[in-house]
Amino acid sequence: MHAFIFDLDGVIVFTDNFHYQAWKKMADNLGIYFDEKINNRLRGVSRADSLDIILERYDGVLSIAEKAGLMEQKNNDYRCLLETMTPKDVSHEVRDTLLKLRQMGFRLAIGSSSRNAGFILEKVGLTGLFDALSDGNNITRSKPDPEVFLKAAEFLNIRPASCAVVEDAYAGIEAAKSAGMTAIGIGDAAKCDEADYRIASFCELIKIAGQLRVC
Ligand code: BG6
Ligand code: MG
Repeated sequence: MHAFIFDLDGVIVFTDNFHYQAWKKMADNLGIYFDEKINNRLRGVSRADSLDIILERYDGVLSIAEKAGLMEQKNNDYRCLLETMTPKDVSHEVRDTLLKLRQMGFRLAIGSSSRNAGFILEKVGLTGLFDALSDGNNITRSKPDPEVFLKAAEFLNIRPASCAVVEDAYAGIEAAKSAGMTAIGIGDAAKCDEADYRIASFCELIKIAGQLRVC
């Protein structure tokens, strides 16, 4: 095992509530019912697919241009909320674990569906810790398709079988397995039977890393 590929939202940082606030504003403007339970369905899902899920409760018909406008506005609102993020939004546990994994000789990458991943990493001061960034800007199919993780492995120049993915979304665990990678579930995905490992806290990765290194 040579590399860890991390999902970003829900694993390294927690921006679910920012997504929720920005989508909620849009839904309220359109008179669409939207709550946190529906927001949970958007985890790991692309921006366009997220909009389609929210519009399941919309009776009208929207043109492609109108949908694009809604997504742009939502993203502007979301980016305003992201602007408030600082390095304090990453826990000591996460930062220390990432540093330890690097010291152990692992290469680290991000595999996120978000087009704002680079911006978020900058805001929280983590950009320099990762050797590669695969995100919503370099994929055409979002999770559960394995594309985002396969691209990360390609950017790292490491074969998929030598990569372990850390994910909080079921769709991400499915994507990791389809990519032929080891899947580690955390948060919501810590309940996912398909995951090879299920962890309650981020620092448990050090123990798993020790086991994987001898494989
Ligand atoms: C994922 C989030 O990381 O990124 C999803 O879990 C989100 O909820 C997706 O829809 C796309 O994000 P963005 O930042 O490109 O709108
Ligand atoms: Mg996630």
